[in-house]
Amino acid sequence: MRIDILTLFPEIALAPLSESIIQRARAAGLVEIFAHNIRDWSTDKHKRTDDTLCGGGQGMLMMPGPIFAAIEELRTPDSKVVLMTPQGKVFKQAIAKELSKEKHLILLCGHYEGVDHRVIEQLVDLELSIGDYVLTNGAIAAAVVTDAIVRLLPGALGDERSHQEESFSDPNLLEAPAYTRPIDFRGLKVPDVLISGHHAKIEAWKKEQALERTKRNRPDLLG
Ligand code: ADE
Repeated sequence: MRIDILTLFPEIALAPLSESIIQRARAAGLVEIFAHNIRDWSTDKHKRTDDTLCGGGQGMLMMPGPIFAAIEELRTPDSKVVLMTPQGKVFKQAIAKELSKEKHLILLCGHYEGVDHRVIEQLVDLELSIGDYVLTNGAIAAAVVTDAIVRLLPGALGDERSHQEESFSDPNLLEAPAYTRPIDFRGLKVPDVLISGHHAKIEAWKKEQALERTKRNRPDLLG
């Protein structure tokens, strides 16, 4: 898989993708990740990429020229172009799974008030938001989406089982609380059932705790 991130801040996008599991996936050749500066496609003598809003309004908008030039240079018939924007569809694990099957993703990052709408109409296959809040730029969102996708690539996580049990594998239930040693930490004990060795009881406890946690933190998932 190949991921190209188009942004005004390539370093912001790349920093979280250059360590740990994602860096190992890159080193192992599971994914190639590139971050490009949209400014490099500006033909303006000041390398400008933004302009004021037509019809008035506060702030600046990314202009179409540099973005069209960048995408036309990078895309192939296999590419899927995704725009990071708070106006997008909310990113979920199911979308990460779908996108992890693509050969080539181009993640376009908005800045200022966003991008000229002709970019969205002509070039963008999917608009994605990572949540209902506004970031200063889409590079952070692109790093989040890339991380969630790359860890799903076969071989990216050492232990394939760890995908299955985690929250959002069952999209309607969070994970149960988890404990490690010491069994007694400052008088705070690990629940007895977890050291009982009784697998059926442990599974029942986990299910009940997962439901409890979901009710408390994410009642929306239970409908
Ligand atoms: N750019 C700014 N805020 C964003 C968000 N919540 N998701 C995706 N891109 C963004």
